[in-house]
Amino acid sequence: MTLGTAVAPAPHALRDEDAERLAALHRRCFPEEAWTEESFAALLAMPGCHGWLTAENDSPDSPLTALLLARRAADEAEILTLCVSPEHRRQALAKRLVGCLIETLSQGGTAELHLEVAVNNRAARALYGGFGFVEIGRRPDYYTDGTQAERVDACMLRLELCA
Ligand SMILES: CC(C)(COP(=O)(O)OP(=O)(O)OC[C@H]1O[C@@H](n2cnc3c(N)ncnc32)[C@H](O)[C@@H]1OP(=O)(O)O)[C@@H](O)C(=O)NCCC(=O)NCCS
Repeated sequence: MTLGTAVAPAPHALRDEDAERLAALHRRCFPEEAWTEESFAALLAMPGCHGWLTAENDSPDSPLTALLLARRAADEAEILTLCVSPEHRRQALAKRLVGCLIETLSQGGTAELHLEVAVNNRAARALYGGFGFVEIGRRPDYYTDGTQAERVDACMLRLELCA
């Protein structure tokens, strides 16, 4: 997969003080299951949790355009959440952040990267498929579909990283 031709702002590593802006973007992208500022603050304080963001500009108050949060434990890692603001999609921001994570984990000797995604999330599955993630299982009825009326299976994906 190519990294695209769009000029995207450089990703920055997540810091404790980003929790409020992370929650604001997460709320826009996952209105039915938004994580709070306190949730992000707690996650960022956990050992092994790290990630990247992009923002509209370099101002400390700038709205975020994308975020990725992951957790590493022993020689495995997991993507906890990834989202891009609706008006900044298809500009290779997610590709950029996942690329940052894979490069960092590979350099650090992590062997496997895991995540879960709704089976009907066509955009995310195409993104991860492009990086070589493979399906290793399903969790039945794992997500709501937003209306609470239906539930959707989670697809468990794994990427083996080169040491
Ligand atoms: C999934 C998501 C993160 C993709 O972010 P993005 O920045 O728009 O993705 P990119 O521009 O980096 O696209 C990378 C690849 O993903 C795939 N892709 C992205 N959006 C797609 C879409 N709407 N339809 C089909 N494929 C898509 C393509 O393969 C694309 O590569 P290409 O541009 O070379 O064709 C974004 O749509 C999003 O935030 N969705 C809501 C939250 C979510 O579902 N998060 C993932 C949970 S695991």
